[in-house]
Amino acid sequence: MNMSAAPRDASMISPSLEHALETARHVVVFTGAGVSAESGVPTFRSAGGLWEKYDPHQLATHEAFSHDPDLVWSWYSWRRNTIRGVEPNPGHYAIAEAEQLFPQFTLVTQNVDNLHQRAGSSRVHELHGNIERSRCLACGTYFMGDEAPPTDKAQSCSCGGFIRPDVVWFGESLPMEELQHAQNAATSCDLLFTIGTAATVYPAAMLPVMARRAGAYVVEINPEPSSIAHEVSECITGASGVVFPVIIERLKQLRTTA
Ligand code: OAD
Repeated sequence: MNMSAAPRDASMISPSLEHALETARHVVVFTGAGVSAESGVPTFRSAGGLWEKYDPHQLATHEAFSHDPDLVWSWYSWRRNTIRGVEPNPGHYAIAEAEQLFPQFTLVTQNVDNLHQRAGSSRVHELHGNIERSRCLACGTYFMGDEAPPTDKAQSCSCGGFIRPDVVWFGESLPMEELQHAQNAATSCDLLFTIGTAATVYPAAMLPVMARRAGAYVVEINPEPSSIAHEVSECITGASGVVFPVIIERLKQLRTTA
């Protein structure tokens, strides 16, 4: 039965979701840019999103970097600085808290912004890399955080190779180990939350669908239905920083009254 037709208000946690919360042993949270929107990080495809203002082909491909490394580097420096200037929001904190509440918990993100880690999530499976990490195209040396070149221009490694942001660009493969772990978690979990993603970029967008097909209860949290909303068990319409903390509070209430 497809129960996704009627999106629910944040304050209405369905009996099916309550049951799933009470019985789930392995919970997966799968996040996208929307979880960081309330922190002030722009999303990609919502109104005013990054891909409305910038052409991804000129900024987020290997060809773009080969053509104009300074332009690509300066765009990522700008994004890195924006992200460093914001704080995790209640959605990130509630996701970090959820990790403590289930026997098994897996957090998978498409975000590169480090905000889950800053909110206290201990293990984050990053499918699209991390903007705080850079690597040399020639020798593969990694640079973390402030080790990364601070300038707006592309820098060279001591070996002479160009240093690039360690994020996944269009046309590139996802990190195999992280993807494999995410797919295994999706197909073996009991409950999956897909939060703040338009679910249009594959293979990441397939995870909630895989989970549902493997028998998990799948809940989407988004102010508007994503492209896979018809594939999930239930949609909750709203902002993640409002909805997910309500869900976690309800779970704790259910546990104390059980
Ligand atoms: P998008 O920008 O495509 O989608 C963001 C989603 O978040 C939309 O569905 C919004 O409705 C939703 N949203 C906005 N505010 C929200 C809030 N407060 N709470 C919950 N949801 C909210 O971002 P992603 O789906 O993450 O890839 O994009 C996937 C990938 O496309 C990104 O990782 C990036 C991009 O190209 C690469 O750079 C490889």
